[in-house]
Amino acid sequence: MGANHGVLATVHGVALVGLEPYRVTVEASLASGLPTLRLVGLPDAAVREAGDRVKTGLQRSGFVWPGERLVVNLAPADLPKVGTAFDLPLAIAVLIATGQVPRSAIGTWACGEVGLDGSIRAVPGLLPITAGARGFGAGRLFVPDVAAREAALVSDIEVVPVHDLAEVGRVLHGARPRVAEPAAIATPGPGPDLAEVRGQHLARRAVEIAAAGGHHLLLSGPPGCGKTMLAHRLHGLLPMLEVPAAMEVAAVHSLAGERAPDAPLSLVPPMREPHHTVSSAGLIGGGSGVPRPGELPLAHHGLLLMDELLETPRFVLDALRQPLERGSVIITRARARVTYPARVQLVAATNPCPCGELGNPTRSCSCRPDAIERYRARLSGPLLDRLDLQVEVWPVERDQLVGPPDGESTVVVARRVAEVRHRAAERWGSGVLSRDVPAATLRRSVRGAALRALASDLEQLGASARGFDRCLRVARTLADLAGDDVVDVEHVQEAVAYRLSSPVMAT
Ligand SMILES: Nc1ncnc2c1ncn2[C@@H]1O[C@H](COP(=O)(O)OP(=O)(O)O)[C@@H](O)[C@H]1O
Ligand SMILES: [Mg+2]
Ligand SMILES: [Zn+2]
Repeated sequence: MGANHGVLATVHGVALVGLEPYRVTVEASLASGLPTLRLVGLPDAAVREAGDRVKTGLQRSGFVWPGERLVVNLAPADLPKVGTAFDLPLAIAVLIATGQVPRSAIGTWACGEVGLDGSIRAVPGLLPITAGARGFGAGRLFVPDVAAREAALVSDIEVVPVHDLAEVGRVLHGARPRVAEPAAIATPGPGPDLAEVRGQHLARRAVEIAAAGGHHLLLSGPPGCGKTMLAHRLHGLLPMLEVPAAMEVAAVHSLAGERAPDAPLSLVPPMREPHHTVSSAGLIGGGSGVPRPGELPLAHHGLLLMDELLETPRFVLDALRQPLERGSVIITRARARVTYPARVQLVAATNPCPCGELGNPTRSCSCRPDAIERYRARLSGPLLDRLDLQVEVWPVERDQLVGPPDGESTVVVARRVAEVRHRAAERWGSGVLSRDVPAATLRRSVRGAALRALASDLEQLGASARGFDRCLRVARTLADLAGDDVVDVEHVQEAVAYRLSSPVMAT
């Protein structure tokens, strides 16, 4: 077991900045001198502790810590390397440098935390790390066996599950590695059904349109009329995700530590429901080290449900605006800007005023006018503008509540939603919703009379140009729901009506 003096033992790992992977090279070499460890290129405390963990882990696994000076460099130096994912590359580099595994191990790719007992532990973000390694041309990647099924979802790379450093040693000596089965694909059970909602025909229609086109929705009305019920049932109308989209969702959740590493890959679009006391950091993301993705990126390819929207302070709500427009969030750090994907559909519910009864024909509002004004002011014009569908919801009669279902079930409505999504995908490409289509593209399938009608309607209302495009998108979805290839005046008129019916809008 001769020490490899002069050998540069190079092992590769992957660092994440946001979801963006970067190749990290760990180089270990022995030099004559006192038995010390010199780690270079490590700004983060957790990685500095890696030396101690790896040393103890190796010794407990029956390996020998060198009695000479060991120099380890993590390159590139300017890349923030946080967390414990470089323990395993470090351990392997030391094993190579000290001649305890063959030189053929040079160039190995690995990711994992090393426990003091030599076990290999899961790290956040293994899915995007594995995808990154594949992108860098890694043929195989050593990963913690507890999380191997998540990594094995990535194709075209051999995922080698390892339980501890002893197993790593055996594989590097040529033992046949275990095979990681990819995580199963989850088939969801049914959620709450739309048929449980009585009455609310206008709101049900809006929920269907929102699901079909991915439009942002605002439900406004007094407490207890079924807003929260409706919002939850929108989720059940959404089609399952394609596997690549589901992988993006899993990557964000993996990074956020919101995903059990052996969990099946879920094709269900995520639904996040932050409490109204959420902070803007909670929505966007933050924290030290690798910033934790907030509710917006966690809702990527799914729904962000903001119940009691106007209980949330305005400066927090304003944090929603740019991400909704851009489809991503940007977290600015001292050293780096981190971007997470956040293609999100916002579904919001609110009372029209603090007491909730404003505009209710059967109850009277007890709020002072200035209190109502302050309440509504939280919903800034630009955010309100982005809520394509705004609907008033009123309580239904008691008889109706206890009567038989008077509306379609989730299965029936979801079928129409799927049809519209299918038409949209054929027209614009897979996964493209009318919410995302550039206005110039949209206009090509709109009848001239419809464009003129929309322009004059919106001019009377003093709506913005953004409002025009958003109305067109909703009108496109309405035409698709009706099976019409061309957007006509009737679709535009219905779309305009959804921007105006909410009393919140009336200010
Ligand atoms: N339209 C409705 N159809 C069926 N049940 C309803 C309806 N509206 C309210 N309910 C009942 O009242 C409860 C409260 O509804 P919820 O959706 O929380 O109201 P909101 O969010 O508007 O305050 C529901 O759980 C349901 O039992
Ligand atoms: Mg509610
Ligand atoms: Zn009131």
